[in-house]
Amino acid sequence: MSTDKRILLIVAGGIAAYKTLELIRRLKERNVAVRCVLTRAGAQFVTPLSLAAISGDTVYDDLFSLTAEAEMGHIELSRDADLLVVAPATADILAKMAGGIADDLATTLLLATDKPVLVAPAMNVRMWEHPATRANIGTLATRGVMRVGPGVGDMACGEFGEGRMAEPDEILGAIEAYFRGDAAVMTPSQGAPDRPRPLSGRRALVTSGPTHEAIDPVRYIANRSSGKQGHAIARALADLGANTTLVSGPTGLADPPGVTVVHVVSAREMLEACRNALPVDVAVCAAAVADWRTSDEAVQKIKKNGGGPRTLELVENPDILRTLSLADNMRPGLLIGFAAETEKVVAHAKAKRKKKGADWMLANDVSPGSGTFGGDRNVIHLLDDGGVEDWPPMSKEAVARRLAERIAAHFTDAS
Ligand code: PMT
Repeated sequence: MSTDKRILLIVAGGIAAYKTLELIRRLKERNVAVRCVLTRAGAQFVTPLSLAAISGDTVYDDLFSLTAEAEMGHIELSRDADLLVVAPATADILAKMAGGIADDLATTLLLATDKPVLVAPAMNVRMWEHPATRANIGTLATRGVMRVGPGVGDMACGEFGEGRMAEPDEILGAIEAYFRGDAAVMTPSQGAPDRPRPLSGRRALVTSGPTHEAIDPVRYIANRSSGKQGHAIARALADLGANTTLVSGPTGLADPPGVTVVHVVSAREMLEACRNALPVDVAVCAAAVADWRTSDEAVQKIKKNGGGPRTLELVENPDILRTLSLADNMRPGLLIGFAAETEKVVAHAKAKRKKKGADWMLANDVSPGSGTFGGDRNVIHLLDDGGVEDWPPMSKEAVARRLAERIAAHFTDAS
C-alpha cells in the first residue's frame, strides 16, 4: 500500500471496537496515517486515550467541541482523508447513514463527506438479518458505500451466525484492495441484499499460490505463481454466497474478506488441508503446486564444500486435483482444474483434464511474455464435456467473477 494514504476511522459502539486498535496498529506499520473519530457509544468500549496512543493523533469525539471546531472543522476532517472507514459499523450508524441523519460528529462527517466510505458491519445476527438493516445496507450499496464482512461465528451475545465484524486482517485487505483499485472490493453492490447469492448453502474449496518445497532450511523449490487468480476466485465465490475455504501457498496477498483461509507451505500440507475441507460442492484448483520435491530434505544448510555442482534427487509430489477426483463419496460435485501451459495450450489442457479427472479445465498460457504468472490479466479457454469455450482477455477479477457465475449456473441447472 502506498505510504502516503490517510484514513479517517470512525469507531462506533460495539464490542468489536477493541479490534480497531489492532487495525490501527497494522495500518501504522504500513505508514498509513490514521485519525480516529469516536462516537459516544464507541467510547463505552474503547477509550479515546488508547486510540490516541496507537494512532498517534488527536481523537475527535464531540461535534460541539469548540476547540476542535476552531482547530479543524468537521468538513475539514473528512476532506483531509483518502478513505473513511467505519468499524465497527453498528446497525444504528448504518441506519443513520442510510437515512441521512447527522446528530453527532461521526454521522455529520459521513453525511458531509465526498470521500469513499468502507463499512465493517458488526451486530447481532437477528439485527443483521432484520429487513430494516437489509434495506439500509442495500441503500448504502447503491450509493457506492463499500463493505467488508460481516463474518459468521460465535457472538458476544452468545448467539451464532452472521454479524461478526471482519477481522483486522480482512479490513486491512479490503483497504489495500481499494487503494490498489481492485474492482472486486470497489463494487458498491458487493453483498447487497438485493444482489442474488445463488451459491448460498454451497461449500467451496479453492487452492491458490505456489507451494515451496524445502531443499534445506534456507533453500526451496518454487514457481512464479502470485496467488492473484486463486484468491480472486475465492473472493468471487464467497461474494455469491458460497461458504468458501481457500487453501493458500505462500503469497504476499492479504486474506480475502469473508473467506476461511488455511495457509500452507508445501504440496503435502496443501493436500492435507484440502482433505480436511471436504466435503465441498465445488473445488477449484488454481494453485501452482510444485510437481517435485527433493527425496531427502537436509536438516542443516547444505555446504558447497568446494566440490562440483550437486545433484538434487527429486520425487513426485502428490497430485491434489487427481486425489480429489478419486475421493469416492467425498469427490467434489464439481471439480475444476487450471492447466498452465507454455505451448499447445488447449491440446495439453484437454489431455490433462482427462488424466486428472476434472470436470472443467481452465487452460491458460503461462509462457514468458504472456504476463499470466504474477500479472493482473488472464486469457482462459474453458474445457468441459461440451468442448472448448474461448474467453476474451480480461482481468483476473473478471475471470473469477465469470467462473463463479458459471459455477452458480451449473448448480441452478442441475437442481
Ligand atoms: O497465481 P497467479 O500469479 O495469479 O497465476 C495464476 C496461475 C497461472 C498459477 C493459474 O491461473 C494456474 O494456471 N494455475 C494452475 C497452475 C498449475 O500448476 O498448472 P498445471 O498444469 O501444472 O497443473 C494442472 C492442475 O493440477 C492444476 O489445477 C493444479 O492445481 C493441479 N495440480 C498440479 C500438480 C499437483 N501436484 N497437484 C495439483 O493439484
